[in-house]
Amino acid sequence: MNIIKKASEMQKIALKHIKAGDEIGLVPTMGALHEGHISLIDKSGKNDDITIVSIFVNPTQFGPNEDYLKYPRPIEKDLQICKKHHVDYVFLPSVSEMFPDEHKTFVEVKEMQDILCGAFRKGHFRGVATVVAKLFNISCADRAYFGLKDFQQLKIIERMAKDLNFTTKIVPCPIVREKSGLALSSRNSYLNAKQKSDAVLISKTLREAKEDFKTKSLQIVLSAAVKKLSSIPESKIDYAEIVDFDDLSLANSKTKKASFLAAVWVGKTRLIDNIAMSK
Ligand code: PAJ
Repeated sequence: MNIIKKASEMQKIALKHIKAGDEIGLVPTMGALHEGHISLIDKSGKNDDITIVSIFVNPTQFGPNEDYLKYPRPIEKDLQICKKHHVDYVFLPSVSEMFPDEHKTFVEVKEMQDILCGAFRKGHFRGVATVVAKLFNISCADRAYFGLKDFQQLKIIERMAKDLNFTTKIVPCPIVREKSGLALSSRNSYLNAKQKSDAVLISKTLREAKEDFKTKSLQIVLSAAVKKLSSIPESKIDYAEIVDFDDLSLANSKTKKASFLAAVWVGKTRLIDNIAMSK
């Protein structure tokens, strides 16, 4: 396994592999790797000749009062995990390598970036789309792997790739959960034991909403879910919404395939989760 810190070097290596006929898979991450990330890495291992994992805590996707500084960075452990899972290259750039002072170009996915998480995290998806566009160009990836855990992010990246004619194919991957149902997240490490067991109610609420969606009106499904989420100790709901699975527009009575998305604070930790639902 090679660790590459320079974007130009990573790109040169990727182009060499392409010339040799290799297909490249990219797994973009911010590190603090867990089984969710590993499921993406293993999928690339199966599909691609070469797997590149990027580890970069991207400052442009964090707001001024968010957790950029305290975001976990267990780099030695992450590298061990990558090695164990047969990653070929870890792309590990510095902030100044990715965003030198003269950086002036940003990618925006209009409308989709301003709703749901985007309404509460101004500029977040602009930062995500920009860094992912850069990573696609640096890695020359044939395929890039994204978790359904970050459903809005996945939809935005799919749209960006379509609108900007990227040749990288986006591969959506299922949410990996703890036995309790809690979706794995690098931010779960902020939770104490009590908060972690309380947070299980988020995924339980989503599962129940999925059942209700088959027979009940949207309003009833939503109000029951909001009531349950509000009952979590120390909780504050940023949003709980049912949207069209394909384009994130608000669901209506005719929507057949939907997704229930929720962002809930438990104490000082913001957790997101979602579930697909159909009639
Ligand atoms: P990060 O939160 O590290 O997540 C990296 C990838 O792992 C994302 O595609 C995310 O959806 C996926 N992932 C996280 N938890 C998961 C789970 N429980 N099950 C399945 N997949 C999971 O998302 C980011 O980083 C950043 O925004 C990034 C795309 C790297 C851009 O900076």
